[in-house]
Amino acid sequence: MTVQIKTPLRHLLSLENISDETIHGLLDRAQEFVEGKYLYQPLRGVGVCTLFFEPSTRTRLSFQLAAQQLGAEVLNFEAANSSTTKGESAADTFRNIEAMGVRGFVIRHREDGAAAALAAIAGPSTAVINAGDGCANHPTQGLLDMLTIRQAKGRDFSRLRVVITGDIAHSRVARSDLHALRALGVRDVRVCGPRTLLPMDDEILEGFNITHDFDAALDGADVVMMLRLQRERMEEGMVESLKDYHEQYGLTAKRLAYARPDAVVLHPGPVNRGVEISDDVADCKQSMILRQVSNGVAMRSAVMEALLTKPLNVH
Ligand code: CP
Repeated sequence: MTVQIKTPLRHLLSLENISDETIHGLLDRAQEFVEGKYLYQPLRGVGVCTLFFEPSTRTRLSFQLAAQQLGAEVLNFEAANSSTTKGESAADTFRNIEAMGVRGFVIRHREDGAAAALAAIAGPSTAVINAGDGCANHPTQGLLDMLTIRQAKGRDFSRLRVVITGDIAHSRVARSDLHALRALGVRDVRVCGPRTLLPMDDEILEGFNITHDFDAALDGADVVMMLRLQRERMEEGMVESLKDYHEQYGLTAKRLAYARPDAVVLHPGPVNRGVEISDDVADCKQSMILRQVSNGVAMRSAVMEALLTKPLNVH
């Protein structure tokens, strides 16, 4: 049987304005990769470059593994060992690697909009995947988080009670998760954090329940998404102390008891243990943290397959 997957996506830069149908289609395909149903190599001979100007463990390695499993020729660009140290711009770096025949770019950059800017200068057969730009978007993290939730809670997202807590202001993960939860029709999303880390005027928060009271936000929750406190992007004074932050916004086993007994806990990593989440929660049965990492390989396989093979023929 030949399965034709059609995706409207040329690049994957953000989950803003993505349809629930496109999300579920990508999650369906990722689930098939999770179950090992498609051990084939549609990207044989295709060059894929992980172009990372910022550090990463999970995203970079899972993209590399996924691309290798799909048969791609994988190039790993590390800014510290590259000619960017001699002043070469990101745009010139991109153009030069594209001139080598690379068709897939997985890009992480500290500036908001960096992946979109490089997608704008890409040739017609080049696809750009945003692997995290500044505080703006991390779409494959958003998708793998939705896959993890769907595996635990089923396809109907509309009745879920979802809490997202932490450093919303600096979190590209929160933005991509909120875009996806909105597209999937979740009605009860509670966005929680200290006033200094919750940008009330940001349109991303429109229509969601905003609170600074973590205990109240957890009441009856099905899904608890914790965010890393991004100390490298924070200004002084945004949090009084890590101890104070943990007391007010750290997820402990005692706090998790306010949520439903079958609630699942997500965190994108890297985890600041003892700050936003305690060891007993990070390692408990309800924690999906390592499941998210496993799902990342399958989700990124599905995304690269969708963008780099058109139309997609699966035999
Ligand atoms: N979740 C995430 O983006 O982790 P890395 O920074 O390690 O890629």
